[in-house]
Amino acid sequence: MAKLKVGIVISGRGSNMAALIEAAQAPDYPAEIVCVVSNVAEAAGLQVAKRMSIATAVVRHEDHPDRESFDRALSAKLEAHGADLVVLAGFMRILSQWFPERWAGRLLNIHPSLLPAFRGRHVARQALDAGVRVSGCTVHLVTPDLDAGPIIAQAAVPVFPEDTEATLSARILRQEHRLYPLVVRWFGEGRISVANGHVDVKGLPQGATLLFSAEP
Ligand code: GRF
Repeated sequence: MAKLKVGIVISGRGSNMAALIEAAQAPDYPAEIVCVVSNVAEAAGLQVAKRMSIATAVVRHEDHPDRESFDRALSAKLEAHGADLVVLAGFMRILSQWFPERWAGRLLNIHPSLLPAFRGRHVARQALDAGVRVSGCTVHLVTPDLDAGPIIAQAAVPVFPEDTEATLSARILRQEHRLYPLVVRWFGEGRISVANGHVDVKGLPQGATLLFSAEP
């Protein structure tokens, strides 16, 4: 069967991107990464993608007069590479309404908290300030509302009293690298559907959309 074509959009170091590219190298993985696009020309992830032999492109937001015209240029680049699914991986730009509507049901994001807790920026700081004992990450479909689209899967990790933003973010990031490739796999397997704002992942054992990790 033809593999799902995935375009990844980044702004920075691209560790989730690298985890996805690596997962997609397995012969039985149902998706292939067709391109990595960054809005930041210096994004370290672009070099990583090149080293992993993935096509890269830069669409600079500074070159566009408003959010929507940038979004249209980004979308055109992804389409030119034949993307069926767009995966945001550390993309640090707020999209206009146009983009999530254009890619409705085919646009994913990963966020380093158990949504709907701690939206926006400085997410580990927010979790530490709130004193939560558990945090994690969420893969969700992207809608025009920031960090608020239908949840597909989550991974949970403990929060320890001695944690700093750096230690908690690193613990969560390790789970991001497990969770994102899994969700893209399910997409490629055609298991994911949405009804009434809720995601159904067909044919998995109960509980498969929640990962736990107790490792420090
Ligand atoms: C991750 O924490 C992700 O959850 C958030 O941005 C960060 C990106 O990291 N959306 P990387 O560029 O994938 O290393």
